[in-house]
Amino acid sequence: MYGNYDGLNKAPAFDLHLGVNYWTTVNISDSDTPVTVEVIAVIAGDSAQVCLVDTGSGTPFISSLDVRPLKNSLYPMANATQGLVLLSRSNLGPTDSTAIIRYPDDKHDRIWVPESKPREWVGFTTTKKVQNIHDDKFEAPSAVMQTAVMPISPTGPIELSWDAQPSAKDPAPGYICVLHISELQDLSRRSTRQFDVTINGLISLGGKGFTPEYLRSNALFNANANAYYGFHHYNVSLNATANSNFRPILNAVEVFSVVPTAGVPTATQDVSAIMTIRGKYQVKKNWMGDPCMPKNFAWNGLSCSYAGTTSPVITGLNLSSSGMSGNVSSSFAGLKKLQYLDLSRNNLTGSIPETLSQLSLLALLDLTGNRLSGSIPSGLLKRSQDGSLTLRYGNNPDLCTNGDSCQPLKNMKSSKVAVYVVVSIAAVSVIVLLLVLLICMLRRKQGTTTRNSVRPQNESGIRHSRGGNGHSSVRLNNRRFTYADLEAMTDGFRQVIGRGGFGKVYDGFLEDGTQVAVKLRSESSDQGVHEFLAEAQTLAKIHHKNLVSLIGYCKDMEYMALVYEYMSEGALHEHLRGRESRTKRLTWRQRLRIALESAQGLEYLHKGCNPPLIHRDVKTSNILLNANMEAKIADFGLLKAFNSSGDTHVSTARVVGTRGYLAPEYIVTFQLTNKSDVFSFGVVLLEIVTGQPHILNDPDPMSIIQWVQQRLACGNIESVVDTCMRGDYDVNGVWKAADIALKCTAQTPEQRPTMADVVAQLQECLDLEAARGNVNGGFYTAESGGNPSEYSGYGTDVSTDMSQSTTAFEMEHLGRALTMSTGPSTR
Ligand SMILES: *[C@@H]1O[C@H](CO)[C@@H](O)[C@H](O)[C@H]1NC(C)=O
Ligand SMILES: *[C@@H]1O[C@H](CO)[C@@H](O)[C@H](O)[C@H]1NC(C)=O
Ligand SMILES: *[C@@H]1O[C@H](CO)[C@@H](O)[C@H](O)[C@H]1NC(C)=O
Ligand SMILES: *[C@@H]1O[C@H](CO)[C@@H](O)[C@H](O)[C@H]1NC(C)=O
Repeated sequence: MYGNYDGLNKAPAFDLHLGVNYWTTVNISDSDTPVTVEVIAVIAGDSAQVCLVDTGSGTPFISSLDVRPLKNSLYPMANATQGLVLLSRSNLGPTDSTAIIRYPDDKHDRIWVPESKPREWVGFTTTKKVQNIHDDKFEAPSAVMQTAVMPISPTGPIELSWDAQPSAKDPAPGYICVLHISELQDLSRRSTRQFDVTINGLISLGGKGFTPEYLRSNALFNANANAYYGFHHYNVSLNATANSNFRPILNAVEVFSVVPTAGVPTATQDVSAIMTIRGKYQVKKNWMGDPCMPKNFAWNGLSCSYAGTTSPVITGLNLSSSGMSGNVSSSFAGLKKLQYLDLSRNNLTGSIPETLSQLSLLALLDLTGNRLSGSIPSGLLKRSQDGSLTLRYGNNPDLCTNGDSCQPLKNMKSSKVAVYVVVSIAAVSVIVLLLVLLICMLRRKQGTTTRNSVRPQNESGIRHSRGGNGHSSVRLNNRRFTYADLEAMTDGFRQVIGRGGFGKVYDGFLEDGTQVAVKLRSESSDQGVHEFLAEAQTLAKIHHKNLVSLIGYCKDMEYMALVYEYMSEGALHEHLRGRESRTKRLTWRQRLRIALESAQGLEYLHKGCNPPLIHRDVKTSNILLNANMEAKIADFGLLKAFNSSGDTHVSTARVVGTRGYLAPEYIVTFQLTNKSDVFSFGVVLLEIVTGQPHILNDPDPMSIIQWVQQRLACGNIESVVDTCMRGDYDVNGVWKAADIALKCTAQTPEQRPTMADVVAQLQECLDLEAARGNVNGGFYTAESGGNPSEYSGYGTDVSTDMSQSTTAFEMEHLGRALTMSTGPSTR
């Protein structure tokens, strides 16, 4: 059920695929009506994928997915080449016209919908159990079979009809109809009930003259849909034969359209190799469903060859600049038909596996820009020399590229053999050989470190949580990077994600795939060397979940850079007024959470640090949001410490910070206290409530504080609240938040609350909002397909990876999952 969950009021339409085959198009017409689609299909292999495909008519969504196992003998029309898509499943003549029948009455948990009785029909019911016949192909439940309909007129037929539902993908669908029939009356020996069943007057189901058995469920159905393609309208008619003393009877009906399921998935060997690769490198691309199929949804960076009816095979793989680390997996050699393999610009280490030379069709192998070591396998070298393979391996500082310098490696190998042999002969020679070995190793070590290798100078333990989408809460020890490291990390400073007075911020990846933001100081920076280093040194010491963490820094000759955790949603002001605010609207609850979290970050600086710290540049562009919309304070370049604990303020030589956010006493007296941050935070909070900039042109420049005060003087909160929230907030909570903000922006520092007070008050606002129990409150509304965007904080649209917009639900090892389930769930 769509339920307008995204607030866009635009019910989407999208396609469903089962594995590689088109299943159906879901077209939601009414936001309050649940839509259920069902397919009966044979799954080859031990896993299945259900893909929701964005076809440009809105973002696909799913509320629940149920999987039910069926015996092979059931629904024999569903086979390797066709599946059955349910159109309707009706229980006729129900005793309760509102009750659906499903599990536990139906052990297969089919949903039998009560069919309201047209005037021409009369219902008939028995309380006796209806048995399944031997070799029953449908196993209709007794509860469904115990009720039936007959025509009112003693000579009339039972007629059912449906309209064909052609779609762009399936312009002439074929249909299969299953009539479930059981005799419910104990007829005397001399009387018979006999009737013919025809569809569109053409074909009779079950031959001439069908007589149902007493209390035995039987079914009449067309085994294939061939005769029923291309009609606009179908009608099924049950007519009593001339020999019959009784009217026809019908207990239940199912109608299916058929879909071809003959699409062949990618060759299994290729699938298992690429799945291993995907798992090993945690590839951050939209790699879901089958790798090559359907054709227009082949995975990013993959080329496939499709030859007739045979399984597609992977012929090319481009994983250039994909943030991969670790060694080169031998699974690449499992892609036997590979013609090109591009692994350039990653952080791959270790040696090049010999097995790659077994790829006989490989014409291009690009390993440029990694940290590979060892020598190039002779098989590859040979093929490169005879011209059958283009081999690129530049910019791998540790790779032995010419035969002679690889000598030590070969010697080492033979030394090991020698040691092994010698051990049994004489201990003395072992020691000598070991020494030789050690010296060899030391030589090698020296050799590598003097080269310009991409390796942190301080290898101190990096810990990070797995799955690094950049929003996992990272706790890292700071490390020092060289300029070359930064180059590798950012792929040569390719993507700028933000700009500031200090220089540019670039998108980057650590060798473990963690996404980072690299802030490189430019020569013309406003931020002095001193401030830059101050930020690095302070940040190295402080850790709080609401402060952007520093992962490392670089001071390499004239180059200076800070490496931060990646905040994918960019700066708060973009969400209030910028590009983001047009497509995504922050709810009141989200705003309160952001305010509370920022306040907690500041409270930590003021209270949790020794000496206490003053941020000095609190503003909406310095509050960044991660993928979970958690707020963190950024930009500590102006951070100032109280040097001695007795001081009530620090005096600064000049006023720094941003106009409109500066506390009045600071501008006038140059005296700085933590209440200056409180003032700036008050301005931020006003922006959060109103969605207005900190300085309005209304028409003359006016501070947001004045603007709000003037309007609230008339007692009208609605006139200041951001209209983007469309009145969806608790009025008391908004009043309270505005009140906190105005107290924070009081003229004298003494009148302002502390950040600890602010945190407590905002928590109360959030509780008020939570108590309101708004079901939509927690949603962040988003429109699909946003362009990659740039923020003046930093950040980039997370959806860039998701260019194919396919959502896949994979049920690996279907068999096991099913035996684990305890039975159908109730709705
Ligand atoms: C969904 O249904 C509406 C109304 O029936 C129709 O206008 C629209 O084209 C359909 N969309 C798709 C993708 O089939
Ligand atoms: C059903 O189809 C037959 C044959 O096409 C036709 O004679 C009959 O009138 C149809 N009945 C209805 C209700 O459409
Ligand atoms: C792989 O992709 C990168 C960038 O997307 C491109 O520059 C490169 O040429 C591609 N490699 C091959 C072998 O197509
Ligand atoms: C890569 O590393 C794994 C685990 O460290 C190891 O099992 C595998 O043999 C290595 N593969 C190659 C080709 O070096």
